[in-house]
Amino acid sequence: MKNKIRIEKLSKIFHTHGREIEVLKELSLEVREGEFFGVVGPTGCGKTTLLNLIAGLEEPSEGAIFIDGEELKGPGFDRGMLFQEGALLPWRNLVKNIEFGMEIKGIEKKKRNELAIKYLKMVGLEGFEESYPYQLSGGMIQRAALARVLTFEPDILLMDEPFASVDALTREKLQEELLRIWQVTKKTILFVTHSIDEIIYLSDRVAVLTSRPARVKDILEINASRPRTEFRMSKEFSDYRNRIWKLLKSEIQ
Ligand SMILES: Nc1ncnc2c1ncn2[C@@H]1O[C@H](COP(=O)(O)OP(=O)(O)O)[C@@H](O)[C@H]1O
Ligand SMILES: [Mg+2]
Repeated sequence: MKNKIRIEKLSKIFHTHGREIEVLKELSLEVREGEFFGVVGPTGCGKTTLLNLIAGLEEPSEGAIFIDGEELKGPGFDRGMLFQEGALLPWRNLVKNIEFGMEIKGIEKKKRNELAIKYLKMVGLEGFEESYPYQLSGGMIQRAALARVLTFEPDILLMDEPFASVDALTREKLQEELLRIWQVTKKTILFVTHSIDEIIYLSDRVAVLTSRPARVKDILEINASRPRTEFRMSKEFSDYRNRIWKLLKSEIQ
């Protein structure tokens, strides 16, 4: 399968208050087209920085990122980023929130509304079009934030611990929905989390990062067919968990 994202010896150093913080060091990896690619790593190792670089929100200190073989030059609508806390505007209802990004992009009103309704349905928020953010649960806000990203119809979804702040049951539900949307839309997903179980359940392949400065410590192929309901309970699953846990533990010590 062809590569969608290629990262070559990516390094990032932040300069703050006369101090240098080396966050990524010659990190290389490749994400295949249509792949669900998971990234785990110790807290503070540089996962968000890596996503920001791929989103084009930060510039590499060294190395390069290629999308479809072309060197990345900045932000673009081909990549959609979903943050840990889906940020909605409190004074706008759900449809208006989802239309907001498209307004900035200059999409005309009718098309905007069509896309907003289409993706609201896809994320399971039909019937909440007129609701305001304060009326929604954390899980619903994450769904809405996902719908907003999807309206740009990006090829690539960059997801930064998107389910970290919802309860366990909601989290499982959201994982299911995300997999369904991924299968329908055939997007390439780069999903970052510090939850080992989440990343095994979701991913085709998982990159385990070292502690800061982050490099790729290992890449595991998760060989399990989908749906993975049984797999979650299996011995294979706990074997993957142990392998990843050992890799991370050797980094934290
Ligand atoms: N804009 C910035 N300026 C200075 N340091 C930063 C900046 N962004 C992140 N860092 C530092 O980089 C390190 C990695 O941060 P981050 O990428 O958020 O890690 P993670 O997402 O893996 O927890 C942290 O030590 C953080 O303080
Ligand atoms: Mg982070």
